[in-house]
Amino acid sequence: MDGFAYKNGVLWAERVNLETLASTLGTPLFVYSLGTLAAHFRSLQQAFSPIDPLICFSVKSCSNLSVLKFLVEQGSGLDVVSGGEIHRAMLAGASPDTIVFAGVGKSAQEIRYAIDSGIHLFNVESESELERIDSIAGESGRHVKVSIRINPDVADADTPQKTSTGGRQTKFGIPVTRAARLYSPGLYDNLRVVGIHAHIGSPIYNAASYLSALDVIESLLIDVERLGGKVESINMGGGFPAIYDAVQSERVSLQEMGAAICTRLLKFNTRGLRFVIEPGRSISANAGVLLTRVEYLKDGWDRQIIIVDAGMNVLLRPTLYSAHHCIWPVRSDGSDGHWIEVTDSSRGDKAGQSVDVVGPICETGDYLALARTLPQLTQGETLAVFSAGAYAMSMASQYNSRGRPAEVVVQGNQYRVARQRESYEDLTALELVGLDPLEHPV
Ligand SMILES: Cc1ncc(COP(=O)(O)O)c(C=O)c1O
Repeated sequence: MDGFAYKNGVLWAERVNLETLASTLGTPLFVYSLGTLAAHFRSLQQAFSPIDPLICFSVKSCSNLSVLKFLVEQGSGLDVVSGGEIHRAMLAGASPDTIVFAGVGKSAQEIRYAIDSGIHLFNVESESELERIDSIAGESGRHVKVSIRINPDVADADTPQKTSTGGRQTKFGIPVTRAARLYSPGLYDNLRVVGIHAHIGSPIYNAASYLSALDVIESLLIDVERLGGKVESINMGGGFPAIYDAVQSERVSLQEMGAAICTRLLKFNTRGLRFVIEPGRSISANAGVLLTRVEYLKDGWDRQIIIVDAGMNVLLRPTLYSAHHCIWPVRSDGSDGHWIEVTDSSRGDKAGQSVDVVGPICETGDYLALARTLPQLTQGETLAVFSAGAYAMSMASQYNSRGRPAEVVVQGNQYRVARQRESYEDLTALELVGLDPLEHPV
């Protein structure tokens, strides 16, 4: 379900022709469909409607201000993990009481900024962080509400190791066996410990892993109440899946996953409980594509190599996580959708050959796809890299001194540049000061 479709052999985002957009604005270019963001947000609302959660979009997945502002206007709260993300959330117009603040390494300065901004809830990851927040809250004369991020020791078997966060071997959360006593009334002067938070990884492909985490949460809830504490909110984190290929689209249903989680949660003693979820990719991944141009075609020893203008500096996921992103030409006669490369292998065999799609960065690991069957490509043509709305631009870097791409939002037949392409001057602006003579004696 997204706003990208081929019409008369060209890929469109809603009613904007992406071939035209690429030639007007250049490549690499991220394009986000606002209609798709809204549709995905609504579909999460529906999937979790029995528990009516506060949905806090995970800013790290796609942090462009226009995207955040749009989602806030749709009714989303925001999940942030740094002072910089709080700054973005404020600029996007989020109300502080809809912001939750996670992260294992919050600095004193970030905590102070979050308290001064009045954010709703800290998701706290260690006992020493609780002490630090307590002391800073005391200095500010404020009372602060916190959730304990527990480590439930639950790991989803299909989640990549690098993004699996619920197991005992990871750095995340407080081992659940130490959590209950932290809710004891009066333990902290300036904190109210009111929530349980668990984010077990992303993406999670089956409800069973969430249900295992919920078993752990329920027994913690009972222990907390036995010790005289009171839990007011349960945050299930994010990780709800986005569909990256046709095989996954057969396997995962967000609606079924939501229904299973809600049914289990409603079996708790839910009196006075408020629910929070922190979806990122399930909203943004398939609301974005990356447009990239073929710079060169070259024959390697045993395969064709397609060199495009977007590499690991623009889209790191293939290199970092061995992630699959569908890739298909923006102009593709007869194509009826971007899942074609995996759904219609006969067409792939007929149309093309196995190629490596690589970037311009000086690293062997710089690729978007290896051994991928694509139609015959030509120099200068534009390719679409799908599912590029999450953990794409937000992870992009200036490695090899390449400026980050522009970002565009599309709505209906209109588009707006949402971030300008970085220029050579942008690359060096913060360093010019270093060209001055040394001036600070030690
Ligand atoms: C604490 C937390 N919440 C939510 C998310 C969002 O995950 P996803 O984009 O898979 O929904 C993440 C992702 O890393 C996370 O660390």
